[in-house]
Formats: sequence, structure tokens, C-alpha cells
Amino acid sequence: MNLILMGPPGAGKGTQAKRLEANHGIVQLSTGDMLRAEVASGSELGRQAKKVMETGGLVSDELIIAMLSACIERDDCRNGFILDGFPRTSRQAEALDRMLKEKGMKIDHVIELTVDDGAIVRRITGRYTCTKCGTGYHDEFQKPAKAGVCDKCGGREFTRRADDNAETVRARLKAYHDQTAPVIAHYRKKGVMESVDGMAAIDDVTLALNAAVSL
Ligand code: AP5
Repeated sequence: MNLILMGPPGAGKGTQAKRLEANHGIVQLSTGDMLRAEVASGSELGRQAKKVMETGGLVSDELIIAMLSACIERDDCRNGFILDGFPRTSRQAEALDRMLKEKGMKIDHVIELTVDDGAIVRRITGRYTCTKCGTGYHDEFQKPAKAGVCDKCGGREFTRRADDNAETVRARLKAYHDQTAPVIAHYRKKGVMESVDGMAAIDDVTLALNAAVSL
């Protein structure tokens, strides 16, 4: 089963992709995570991406399409994948259509998590992850059972993303409305677009997604 999870910054794509990965044995492919790994490695791609990500803009379609194309053929994607953060422009959506056709693959579900713009800054500025294992938390909505200790690995160091500040979030939200809204129209036209209420509590969103992908 191959899925596309869409939604604005902070909609819960990463949170839910990790749960879908665990529940359905399919692999999360997050272009944001891939780019952050490139930035951390100091690669040329990372250097180019860093400047764009810090301003909340979108990295060039060429770089993203090349990066993603290599991933969907990986052995660990045989059971399926969840595209998280891709496609984000009409060009990326058209390139994905071509890529899938060439590889004889298809997308089974395209699901948009709908969230009010007003909730987004609060969600993003409260987000942090365990430095050791990457488990995600939130100051208000998803706290570890014991303050300062990761539920999953016991780690005590946490990281906040460089682009998770109010100013950059507003730019990311604008990029979403300007450049990613046409992608939703692209999948609506194909009749494969589904919506899930991303304003519901995290566990309820997971239930709704599990129901949507089981149909
Ligand atoms: P990316 O990493 O993809 O960021 P994003 O799309 O802005 O999405 P986020 O990761 O911020 O949010 P999310 O929806 O995953 O929310 P999360 O689950 O963490 O991209 C970063 C940058 O990389 C882009 O700005 C761009 O520059 C570049 N880039 C990436 N892909 C690209 C592409 N294809 N083309 C060009 N450039 C690209 O949840 C957020 C917080 O809210 C968490 O703390 C969570 O605990 C909490 N939360 C989640 N769900 C709920 C809920 N239901 N109720 C309450 N709290 C919740």
C-alpha cells in the first residue's frame, strides 16, 4: 500500500506517518527529514537546502524529485511507503505520476490532514524530538510520561528544529497555500483525494487514518 499524506506544516503528517509505519509495516519517506539529514551531513545538497529551509521557502523541484525517485525503489519500500511532505508543487506531482508509471507502481490513498491556520504556530513552536531516537513530543499536546525523559529510549536530550519559529512558520504556511494547494486540486481531479480532520486529538486522527486506509 502506497500513501501520500498531505497537510500544512504542523498538521501531524510526521506524527501519523510514524504510527502508520508501525501499524502497517510500510515505510515513511519524509522529504523534510531527508533534507535535514543532508544539512546535518554538511553535503552540497544540504548547504543549498539549508538557506531555503531557514526562510520557510521550498527547495528546488529538481533536487527533491531526484532525491525521492531513488527512495521509492528501495528494498524496504516493497510493502509500501508513505510520502510525507512530497509532492509539494504541481511539478513534483506531475513528476511523481511519471515516476510511478515508469516503475509500474501506483498510489492507493492520498489523504489530507485538515488543520486551521490558527492552530499551526502553537503546534510547531511547541514541538521537540528526542535527540537519540527521534521520537516526537509537544510542550502541551504530547508530553513524555516522565518530564525530560524519552518514553521510547530513555534519552534525556531533546532537539528543536531550526525552522520551528513563528516567523518561519508563517512563511511555510504561505508556501503551502500558494504552492501546495494546487497539488490537492491535482488529486481531487483524479478522484483519489480523501480528508481527515487533523484538529482532532492525536489518537483520534490515527483511528480515522487507519479506517481510511483499510477501505
Ligand atoms: P517538512 O519537514 O516536511 O515540514 P512541514 O511540512 O512544514 O511539516 P512539519 O514537519 O512541520 O509538520 P507535520 O505535519 O509533520 O507535523 P508533526 O506531526 O510534526 O519540511 C521542512 C522544510 O523542508 C520545508 O519548509 C521546505 O523548505 C523543505 N521541503 C521539504 N519537503 C519539500 C518538498 N517536497 N519540496 C520542496 N521543499 C521541501 O506535528 C507538529 C506538532 O504538533 C508535534 O509536536 C505534534 O506532537 C503535534 N501534533 C500533531 N498532531 C496533533 C494533534 N492532532 N493535536 C495536537 N497536537 C498535534
